[in-house]
Amino acid sequence: MNIKSLHIGIIGLGYVGLPLAVEFGKLTNVSGYDKNFELINSLKNGNDLNNEISSEQLCSAHSIEFFSNINDLESCNVYIVCVPTPVDENKVPNLEHLIQACERIGPLISDDDIVIFESTVFPGATDSICIPKLEKFSGKLCWTEGAGDMVNKFHVGYSPERINPGDKGRKIADIIKITSGSSVIAQKRIKQLYETIIKAGVYDARSIIVAETAKVIENIQRDVNIALMNEFSNFCYKLNIDTREVICAAQTKWNFLQFTPGLVGGHCIGVDPYYLTNLAQKRNCDVDLITTARLINEAFPAQIARRLITALIKNKILPQNAEVIILGVTFKENVTDIRNSKVKELIDELESWGVKVFAHDPTVPIEIIEENFTNNVLSTYVNSSFDGIIVAVGHDEFKAITPQN
Ligand SMILES: NC(=O)c1ccc[n+]([C@@H]2O[C@H](COP(=O)([O-])OP(=O)(O)OC[C@H]3O[C@@H](n4cnc5c(N)ncnc54)[C@H](O)[C@@H]3O)[C@@H](O)[C@H]2O)c1
Repeated sequence: MNIKSLHIGIIGLGYVGLPLAVEFGKLTNVSGYDKNFELINSLKNGNDLNNEISSEQLCSAHSIEFFSNINDLESCNVYIVCVPTPVDENKVPNLEHLIQACERIGPLISDDDIVIFESTVFPGATDSICIPKLEKFSGKLCWTEGAGDMVNKFHVGYSPERINPGDKGRKIADIIKITSGSSVIAQKRIKQLYETIIKAGVYDARSIIVAETAKVIENIQRDVNIALMNEFSNFCYKLNIDTREVICAAQTKWNFLQFTPGLVGGHCIGVDPYYLTNLAQKRNCDVDLITTARLINEAFPAQIARRLITALIKNKILPQNAEVIILGVTFKENVTDIRNSKVKELIDELESWGVKVFAHDPTVPIEIIEENFTNNVLSTYVNSSFDGIIVAVGHDEFKAITPQN
């Protein structure tokens, strides 16, 4: 495959889409589209609003152009969809962005083009939702074996993103990528396409549904293991055993998994399991362990808050007279992303007891913390005194004040 013969359209230029656009933009023409005008304008000026990609990186991918009108992607022959797939307030998958992307790409598709989905979905979503939408809005069919020539046909693939936000050592090219396609031809072309940018190599899944399900179980496995540690930490707390000390001791066994208790927020681990549980419920399939893990992790912010309240009372400090600082507000350590951060629930629970809560996070601008968490934001916590401290997020900056192994 000659990468230079491809013109790649990336739909959705967030945490997943933009790094991908930059990698392909080093090799061939890339057109990036996002429905967020502000983001597109900022990217045209060399700035990523998410601060994930530097201006230098944007410049290094000299073949990228950014558009706020999807019709400008008409000359592309590969489309890669990286739009959000959140859950709604009832934890039901919300596929509106994905469906809208399919409806908008459909009219642009020419014969033999390829559409690849990277957004996390439930198993079967590409076949049952995306392909029918693309077929309807393109007036063409997804080619499958035995379907004759490529006239009025296109190809589809699924290749889940596996980037680990905040992990500076493992960038997109360093993580083995799963690829899959709607036919053997699609599978082969999509594998070759990603091999041009992924140094770590590509795993060719046998079908789209295998690739979709692999993505979901990767995150469910983490969710369940963190839930186990959270439940265990509740047990240790009740019995007055130091959880950290126990984990440090247990970790000396070679096959003890490296999980610790903590808040599970963000847009992946705390969301993707619902894509599976929702489907399982519709198919009358019990997934009690996965469901319980979600409940445990959802309840954890309030449990941490109540532990602090108990500690205050034991120290004869009335919650309504207490001043507490929360260190870290992002959804995980060493990132700037606050989406679906569970720190908000922690603060709300403490405030419901009358505690005055302060927040500090060196990675997040003060006005963003004010807008999303609390008006009591501190630019530093050094030389201040509080009745309680919660290190909610394990940013490297806080390592000096937290017990280490
Ligand atoms: N962020 C991660 O670490 C990560 C890792 C693995 C998988 N994923 C999955 O990748 C997908 C994208 O995640 P993200 O973190 O990049 O999301 P994001 O919110 O950072 O970016 C998505 C972008 O898509 C745009 N968008 C929404 N609907 C659109 C449409 N119809 N047309 C064009 N643009 C549209 C939004 O404006 C936004 O800029 C999700 O399914 C997510 O679960 C994310």
